[in-house]
Amino acid sequence: MSIVTERAPDSGVSLESETINLLHKRVSVRKYTDDAVSPEMVDAVLYASFRAPTSSNIQAYSVVVVRDQSTKDELAVITGNQRHVAETPVFLAFCADLTGMEGALKRHGHNIDDNNMEIGLVSTIDATLVGMSAYLAAGSVGLHGLMIGGVRNDTKAVARVLGLPPRAYCVFGMCLGWPAETPQLKPRRALNHMVHHEKYDAKKLEAGLDEYDKALADHYRSTGKTTTDASWTDDIDSKFNVPRRDNLREALKDLGFNFR
Ligand SMILES: Cc1cc2nc3c(=O)[nH]c(=O)nc-3n(C[C@H](O)[C@H](O)[C@H](O)COP(=O)(O)O)c2cc1C
Repeated sequence: MSIVTERAPDSGVSLESETINLLHKRVSVRKYTDDAVSPEMVDAVLYASFRAPTSSNIQAYSVVVVRDQSTKDELAVITGNQRHVAETPVFLAFCADLTGMEGALKRHGHNIDDNNMEIGLVSTIDATLVGMSAYLAAGSVGLHGLMIGGVRNDTKAVARVLGLPPRAYCVFGMCLGWPAETPQLKPRRALNHMVHHEKYDAKKLEAGLDEYDKALADHYRSTGKTTTDASWTDDIDSKFNVPRRDNLREALKDLGFNFR
């Protein structure tokens, strides 16, 4: 099996492995067949993903596996009426979760009430590494899906729907199923504009943005999607020219993460 090397640096080295091939083929999938995703399969995927590295071995994450249709329907609404959230056979909620640490500290007469930005970040990173590992483990057996950041539209509502305890929040969700579509790979910003050697080269930025606007516009047009010539920069500007989810810090504080 050949791998995509078009954007790799001209090193003359072509690496090939099952993992590299899997990464080169990875794409978000938003339509699933009716075939079941067995509990055993989800367990096996998660069991593998829990081998992900974890900061200071804190393992500050948990996963809620959702199959119940009414729960998926509720989550679909919260995430912005995302159809695939209601239609996915299984939805995995990857949560930053401080309750294990809290239990450990309590045994020694301490508490985690005064947790700070560092704890908030490492638990979020831990959950993310496990989530990405699960995504790849699932992909390696033909299961595909999609990460869902829409859960942070209303983090407290998602915590309530999932019955999360204090000091846990859903960082992102994941739809997982057998693919009923084969989307084209979405191009990425070029490696040589984003990888720097020895020192960061800020001069690369503008040419890189121009090149990517064109690549993404070509991609969307080839899939029949309407876009502008400045496809990526227009899209990013329209999404981020005002702060998104500006209530998140307060919501996370109410859920037991201070992020101070
Ligand atoms: C943390 C995270 C959250 C995401 N949230 C959503 C989402 O809520 N809805 C959605 O349709 N796609 C979501 N995506 C998928 C991205 O839109 C997608 O990965 C990106 O456009 C690149 O496309 P590709 O994955 O097909 O290469 C999310 C991806 C990540 C990593």
